[in-house]
Formats: sequence, structure tokens, C-alpha cells
Amino acid sequence: MSDTAPIEHPSWLTSGDFTAADEPLRLFAAWLSEATASEPRDPTAMTLATIDADGLPNARMVLLKGVDERGFVFYTNMDSQKGRELDVHPQAALVFHWKSLNRQVRVRGNVERVSEADANAYFATRPKQAQIGAWASKQSAPLESRLAFEKAVALYAAKYALVTVPRPPYWSGYRIMPLRIEFWHERPFRLHDRIEFARETLSAPWSKTRLYP
Ligand SMILES: Cc1cc2nc3c(=O)[nH]c(=O)nc-3n(C[C@H](O)[C@H](O)[C@H](O)COP(=O)(O)O)c2cc1C
Repeated sequence: MSDTAPIEHPSWLTSGDFTAADEPLRLFAAWLSEATASEPRDPTAMTLATIDADGLPNARMVLLKGVDERGFVFYTNMDSQKGRELDVHPQAALVFHWKSLNRQVRVRGNVERVSEADANAYFATRPKQAQIGAWASKQSAPLESRLAFEKAVALYAAKYALVTVPRPPYWSGYRIMPLRIEFWHERPFRLHDRIEFARETLSAPWSKTRLYP
């Protein structure tokens, strides 16, 4: 085979018709890469929805820090509200909204923690101030004053001034392992395109359904 052979693109990518896609994670990667080029800020920002111990939904923004065939990864304080909710109900939903592209992606699935090795590797890439912040913040716990937080930051900054900051034991990542992924693209007159991929289990094949907008 010639080493100058053109890279093969899936037909839905070259035709520009995402509804012809047959594998959602490749389609997601293509949309994320387009959003990275067009979004003015935070193309990886996503809403993370969880459920609390009483069944009440909760949602907040987090940043996507990795995606592959296993799922969607974000990092946080595991003692935070979201961390405690995921301990009780390891299931979540994500929403991406890329305004510059008029696109939305919805993801639902089961949740696992990333490996210690993955968490250590990602923590090591963070700026030192952010690493110190992870030690200083008891995320989601009541804070008596801004000053108390700044004191905690100064304390850990002094403690780790001359050494590598280790990853706090309560700080790690979660992976949402998708069972459903829906792609939505705005079309004129609200006649939008919606394609939902679903699978019964993580090892089952994806099925694809077009939905009314
Ligand atoms: C654009 C954006 C990105 C954010 N990314 C993260 C993140 O990756 N991890 C995180 O723990 N909090 C992130 N936050 C803060 C969360 O939205 C939230 O305030 C915090 O995690 C506490 O949530 P909880 O009390 O539900 O646990 C982000 C906020 C915004 C607005």
C-alpha cells in the first residue's frame, strides 16, 4: 500500500450529513473538534446532571477532560455534592450546547471513577495554583468567609512551595459510560434533526433512531 494513500473519512463526514453516522463516539469527536474551532469559550463545557439521595435532580457545569470509546471524563472533588450524589447513584446525564454551531449533544449512562493512574497523570498537568486550590477547597462545604479560604490557599502554597504537589486523595475523575447519545442540530423553522444512538449494555451494538424535533 502506498504511504501517500488519502486518509479515509466516513461518508457522513465528507457528505456533511451527520444523520448518516453509524458510530456516535466518532461523530461526537468530529463535532467537538468543530466546536473547538468555532466556540469563543470553553468548547468542552458540559452540564452534568445527577440525582441526590432523595431522587431530586441536580445540575452544574463541568469541563470534559477526556473522551474515548469508554466514555466522557471530568475531574472534581469526590467529597463535593456531585461526588456524594454519584456515590449513591452512579448514573448521570451530560448536555453540551455549542451555540456557534447550533448543536446540542445529550449523553446518559452509568458512572465509574477513573483509575488512580489516570487521575495522577491528569492532576500532574494542572497549574500549581490549581493543584494548591484542590487542597485548599472543601468543595461544596459551607465556608465561613473568603478570608478563611485565602488563608487555606496560603497555607498549602507554603507547604508545597518547594515540592511537587501530590494529588489529594479526595480529588479524582469520573467517567460517564454512555448508553444513550443524542445529536441535535438546528434546522430552519424548528424542523431540527435529532438522531439518538442507544445500546442496552456497554458491550452491545449501537442502534440508531431519528426522533421528531
Ligand atoms: C464553565 C464551568 C466549568 C466548570 N468546570 C468544573 C469542573 O471541571 N470540575 C468541577 O469540580 N467544577 C467545575 N465547575 C464548578 C461547578 O459548576 C460547581 O460549581 C462545583 O463543581 C460544585 O458543584 P457541586 O456542589 O454540585 O458538587 C465549573 C463551572 C463552570 C461555570
